[in-house]
Amino acid sequence: TAGLNNLAKAAGKVYFGSATDNPELTDTAYVAILNETSEFGQLTPGNSMKWDATEPSRGTFTFAGGDAIVALAKGTGKIVRGHNCVWYNQLPSWVTAGNFDAADLTSIVQTHCSTLVGHYKGQIYSWDVINEPFNDDGTWRSDVFYNTLGTSYVSIALQAARTADPAAKLYINDYNIEGTGAKSTAMVNLVKQLQADGVPIDGVGIQAHLIVGEVPSTLQANIEQFTALGVEVAITELDIRMTLPSTAALLAQQKSDYQTVIAACNAVSGCVGVTIWDYTDKYSWVPSTFSGQGAACPWDENLVKKPAYDGIAAGW
Ligand code: XIL
Repeated sequence: TAGLNNLAKAAGKVYFGSATDNPELTDTAYVAILNETSEFGQLTPGNSMKWDATEPSRGTFTFAGGDAIVALAKGTGKIVRGHNCVWYNQLPSWVTAGNFDAADLTSIVQTHCSTLVGHYKGQIYSWDVINEPFNDDGTWRSDVFYNTLGTSYVSIALQAARTADPAAKLYINDYNIEGTGAKSTAMVNLVKQLQADGVPIDGVGIQAHLIVGEVPSTLQANIEQFTALGVEVAITELDIRMTLPSTAALLAQQKSDYQTVIAACNAVSGCVGVTIWDYTDKYSWVPSTFSGQGAACPWDENLVKKPAYDGIAAGW
């Protein structure tokens, strides 16, 4: 085929891309495929722009990991999604254990977002400014930010990011918002509220960590309910896992599921692109997170294309 990024672009999309992570970049066979611009037009750093990696102690910033991925992207003509500014997970302990009052935490969020986004000014297509703000029932996640600042942490972060890089598209990103339901409705209502308040918001990121045979039937309608708000949508972390061992039947269902997801994005003009959460089972986060599950990516652990690859190609 023409390559997955070329196919996405031919369909009018901005990119098809992959997450990657710094330790993998010593694997020359892995990098050779990642570098193919025909396959991937976009990279997301899987870990190296997160808070624990970028501000391990207050006011001390380390960008070496993120810089390496931005440099790799630039060298191979790819755009970058920044991931992420504010998330309850992978926080350094100085944030979680700090017991900060509202004024102090406001300043901490502002400094983190503006320094991080400002460091990469002009080099990032879109930022996941807020990651995973909701519980599955659509209520707000009880984390250090919400518990101290209420919902205002969202606008504080978005405004700091906009000022730091006016050209970057600012996203809120979450999982279990693939189909319609309480959590997607909460996202719709948040975007509407931000727009009513004049807070910058440009996109909704749908992570799409899915299970073989369980792609929500409302995926396309759900993408449409987000784009109807006037924001863009991206599928930001796509993988489709199965209970191991993989079988021919599971791999065939997975191919069909990948095609369904890509076709849903393809059908909605405001869906700008799709990122897979690494392209190979060799470096997938799934087996270490979901016990007994894996084989979630379109290339296997030997960097050989699986049926899922053809499903993605067919979806564009
Ligand atoms: C994952 C990384 O891939 C892992 O390497 C890390 O150990 C944990 O985080 N949702 C997100 C991503 O927004 O940041 C997560 O990435 C996967 C779930």
